[in-house]
Amino acid sequence: MGKITAAITAVGKYLPDYVLTNKILEKMVETNDEWIVSRTGIKERRILKEDGKGTGYLAFKAAEDLIERSNVDPTTIDLVIVATATPDMQAANTGAYVASKIGALNAFGFDMDSACSGYLFGMSVVAAFIESGKYKKVLLIGADKNSSMIDYTDRATCIIFGDGAGATLFEPNEEGLGLRDEYLRTDGSGREFLRVLRGGSSFPFKKGDVFGEHECFAHQDGRTVFKNAVFNMADVSKHILERNNLKTGDVNWLAAHQANKRIIDATAKRIGLDESQVMINIEKYGNTTSATLPLLLADYESKLKKGDNIVFAAFGGGFSWGSIFYKWAYNSK
Ligand code: UT7
Repeated sequence: MGKITAAITAVGKYLPDYVLTNKILEKMVETNDEWIVSRTGIKERRILKEDGKGTGYLAFKAAEDLIERSNVDPTTIDLVIVATATPDMQAANTGAYVASKIGALNAFGFDMDSACSGYLFGMSVVAAFIESGKYKKVLLIGADKNSSMIDYTDRATCIIFGDGAGATLFEPNEEGLGLRDEYLRTDGSGREFLRVLRGGSSFPFKKGDVFGEHECFAHQDGRTVFKNAVFNMADVSKHILERNNLKTGDVNWLAAHQANKRIIDATAKRIGLDESQVMINIEKYGNTTSATLPLLLADYESKLKKGDNIVFAAFGGGFSWGSIFYKWAYNSK
């Protein structure tokens, strides 16, 4: 028996119906379509509007789509992991809710948070579970309702973020396909530059509190995050290519976190890839945090071929970042 690797065998996605276009944002903050497109590549993003529906709903819908597309029996799923920076509630894990909602009655569920690197780090966790032989079917969902932490009067953040979810099913593979190598990094000094200050355990909500402007919303020092993202995503991707003796011509796809098209272009350029090798959907969804990578897979599934070499790369709050070398495991029907 060959070494067991963890490979994606099915994908699914969910985007809420409401489309927040650049034109609509022009009426909300001082910005314009030309600035947003040229500085970020984003044309529109989706927003989950209904009260009472959170990330768990997005994740459940993406998982439901995966189940419909693949005919997997939910009762055979062992584990459901939701990568998210915006869980439904504190102290009540969203993964457990999603597992129950899809009828994964024999599974347990939990959440993972590493901001925009959450799904990438989740791939590593799933691979460890599968390689151990303990679990055979693991659902990894990247989902975020970013609109829950955005101040729609702050033009530095409201133009970037959107809501969405992507779901992937991982199973053991004995042909050497799936996750082959990873290089994951963090630097805790970066947390000052991208965060929601209030509502966590450092600065919890207290009865009668009056908060300063923006304290309850996502705040970022865009330029600092941008510089770190460009440098670090390119650095780890280069490292993963060299360590696996991959020449740029061997890479079929770069699947990079969709935060800003200029960051993605810079990463691709630094490792010598051209546009045709780069997955892109930022123009439609903006930055969906943990959902960007599985949404890319769902959107590009029909183009992917068994054996394709994919380099994943992400950068996010924390700071956290990394790269994964992955071999795609199936041809879509
Ligand atoms: O997922 C990981 C987390 N996030 C990221 O990776 C995002 C990283 N950062 C970025 O993508 C970019 O820094 C932004 C898109 C947030 C901003 O783009 P930038 O090119 O770094 O702009 P900037 O912050 O350097 O601002 C340039 C100018 C400023 O005006 P002045 O000071 O030059 O007069 C800003 O006030 O653009 C202004 N500006 C805007 N103008 C129109 C900032 N936001 C806007 C806006 N519309 N929405």
